[in-house]
Amino acid sequence: MHADNWANKAKSMGYRSRAVFKLDEILNKIGSKNKYQNVLDIGSSPGGWSQYIKKKYNKAKVYAIDILDMEPIDGVNFYQENIEDIDNIIDIKRLKGAFNLVISDIAPNLSGISAVDNENVFELNQLTINIAKDYLISDGFLIMKTFQNNKLKDLRKEMELFFKIVQTYKPAASKKQSGEIYLFGVK
Ligand SMILES: C[S@@+](CC[C@H](N)C(=O)[O-])C[C@H]1O[C@@H](n2cnc3c(N)ncnc32)[C@H](O)[C@@H]1O
Repeated sequence: MHADNWANKAKSMGYRSRAVFKLDEILNKIGSKNKYQNVLDIGSSPGGWSQYIKKKYNKAKVYAIDILDMEPIDGVNFYQENIEDIDNIIDIKRLKGAFNLVISDIAPNLSGISAVDNENVFELNQLTINIAKDYLISDGFLIMKTFQNNKLKDLRKEMELFFKIVQTYKPAASKKQSGEIYLFGVK
């Protein structure tokens, strides 16, 4: 399906972003019947993924963080913070080790200089892996966006240090030319 069609479909379903279809595809592949009690959404704005999780798993407690603001979503606890400062968010910190699922669609502002962009993506992804390692329960899941670049191999290796299963997904709803790709891990 063309990117515009995914966007129209998202709009007609009341979702704030077409990124929900990428998450839907990955969760279906990994077995979405899981009961997710606590979910951490990293880089959540404008809120499509948080909306999706709340709709699909209505009992889940969703905690969402972004440096940008996010319009409220019923049942989603939002914190406007840099993920570097996640440990300062008391409500989230008290759940360290109790999250079943961490989802990260985080992406830095792109400069257009690939060496700089690749490094920024890598650093944000490293931070995300460390947060997931600390905040997930044993056997918890991480779904993280990254990009196909010269740092991807190193990133996978780093993830493999803390996650017993690591897999790569390129959802159909992800534009082919975007270079984005998703890593899935089981802690
Ligand atoms: C692609 S958007 C996420 C879209 C979201 N999954 C959805 O479905 O609506 C990526 C987000 O990452 C956020 N972001 C980038 N760097 C961040 C950081 N250091 N801390 C928190 N959020 C960050 C951006 O502000 C942006 O809103």
